Amino acid sequence: MCGIVGILGTRAAAPLLVDSLKRLEYRGYDSAGVATLEDGRLARCRAEGKLKHLEDRLKATRLTGRTGIGHTRWATHGAPTESNAHPHATDRLALVHNGIIENYRELRGELEQCGAVFASDTDTEVIAHLIDLGLASGAAPKEAVEAALRRLRGAFAIAVLFGGDDELMIGARRGSPLAIGHGDGEMYLGSDAIALAPLTDQIAYLEDGDLAVLIRTGVDVFDADGRPVERPPTRATVTSLLVDKGNHRHFMLKEINEQPEVVGHTLAHYLDLTGGRCKPLDLGVDFARLDRLSITACGTAYYAGMVARYWFERFARLPIDIDIASEFRYREQPLAKKGLSLVISQSGETADTLASLRYAKAEGQQVAAVVNVEQSTIAREADMILPTLAGPEIGVASTKAFTCQLAVLACLAIAAGRARNVLPEAEEARLVAAFAEVPRLMSQVLRLEDGIEAIARDLGRAEHVLYLGRGTSYPIALEGALKLKEISYIHAEGYAAGELKHGPIALIDEAMPVVVIAPHDHVFEKTVSNVQEVAARDGRIILVSDEAGISAAGVNADRVVVPSMPAEITPLVYALPVQLLAYHTAVFMGTDVDQPRNLAKSVTVE
Ligand code: AGP
Repeated sequence: MCGIVGILGTRAAAPLLVDSLKRLEYRGYDSAGVATLEDGRLARCRAEGKLKHLEDRLKATRLTGRTGIGHTRWATHGAPTESNAHPHATDRLALVHNGIIENYRELRGELEQCGAVFASDTDTEVIAHLIDLGLASGAAPKEAVEAALRRLRGAFAIAVLFGGDDELMIGARRGSPLAIGHGDGEMYLGSDAIALAPLTDQIAYLEDGDLAVLIRTGVDVFDADGRPVERPPTRATVTSLLVDKGNHRHFMLKEINEQPEVVGHTLAHYLDLTGGRCKPLDLGVDFARLDRLSITACGTAYYAGMVARYWFERFARLPIDIDIASEFRYREQPLAKKGLSLVISQSGETADTLASLRYAKAEGQQVAAVVNVEQSTIAREADMILPTLAGPEIGVASTKAFTCQLAVLACLAIAAGRARNVLPEAEEARLVAAFAEVPRLMSQVLRLEDGIEAIARDLGRAEHVLYLGRGTSYPIALEGALKLKEISYIHAEGYAAGELKHGPIALIDEAMPVVVIAPHDHVFEKTVSNVQEVAARDGRIILVSDEAGISAAGVNADRVVVPSMPAEITPLVYALPVQLLAYHTAVFMGTDVDQPRNLAKSVTVE
């Protein structure tokens, strides 16, 4: 959950490193640092907290070397202090790392026995001392790095510089992503293409186990067995223009407002909107042959999977097993040989979800991945990719990726229904027409922002908030609660509305706001009775429904009145009010909306 970058350049490296690190802050921002090489001399500059603290520090510390490495940290081992900030260094080398070394304690003990003196509490510093040990015994840099990596258990992506040699940088990865950038007489390393976008769009992604030896004019790559391999660069799809806030105050608000467009793009990729049908999906899997489908993901992506369960079971009559990825592979669930597993991930780098993918494949399943980053590790390891076309999502709180995931999953469920011959053509046409309305309806809901902002100011005074929903609105209630807590730091819980009376109703009083997601669907009447149970106990109700629903509920409530729409598409459209509610509450609270405390955009450790 950290970001790393390296430059073998023809210009002063420090400012370029900082510019790339700004694009990696979504991976963590507890501390940051750079190291440069000039005439063989290593120089370091590190700072606690956000990148701007490092920038301030660099103004007073002129680093002019053309070779450098940089790091922005999400703390795993060791508090977010300057001494624990990367790069970590010895007299012979400097190193940055993304990942977790699981056996670092035993290695640290061994190294201290050999006289190593540690300056930090991190697992990363162990790698630096292991490589140093090899160099001290006369090994060449590549061999010293290989020997060190053989001792490590856990995940890493590293970039290493060696004192005395401005012309050399070594990168390696196991379990964490690492890309090579090819410039004009310059070479780069980075956690992803976004980091390298200001420098180049010629990107090659290292495979798991690869080690790369970079010089200014090129790179030699070696696979996990030490054999030379080719990793040819391709033109990256990310451009520096795409990762920009435009005229919005935060990336999150920009991305909320992009949803009509990007969801429209995604739907158009999978649906023949004029022909009223699903485009053929050459997934290489016969849905008619499947007895079950397992779905696994984390966080918001998991809630998208929860919505999809209803769709697969209704449109395709396909039973669904769904679990959060961090539980899935430890359950040791027996999976049908030649069955299909579906993983959902915006970043395509979430360690728990990647581990689930590998478990399912080891069990003989085919794995389809719904991902937003097509060059990601999950995308590369899946048997088939179902891309979301959300574009880069920078805000740590997922918004447009979530609704694009829903769009893909809905199309897949419709396609599965046709393939299983349980969804009549006329019903397919009705569903396609309904989903085609989503972008327009989303645009209408975005125009409700001012009213939602007013409700958010009141929500900001609460200590606890409940979100309720039934059917496909239940995962939206969970998502709304997650959005609120992760960016405003207010405790919030999502509940199936029917569960309220089995305990949570004890929480209801005039101090407890209850957000009720209640589209006018087949469970609306049941949800209204839950709303009345809350009203009878002086609960503060925030009702999200259409005109008919609001009047049928007949309770005194703050209201968000959304357009009426077919029940099947409500999860995509009703996601926007809960996103905006969380956003404006966080703005009211003054929290860091795009980079909330303790979080990172891509959780690449288990
Ligand atoms: C969403 O707002 C959260 N930031 C988090 O729950 C996220 O959805 C989860 O970590 C999964 O990430 P992924 O989609 O990149 O796998």
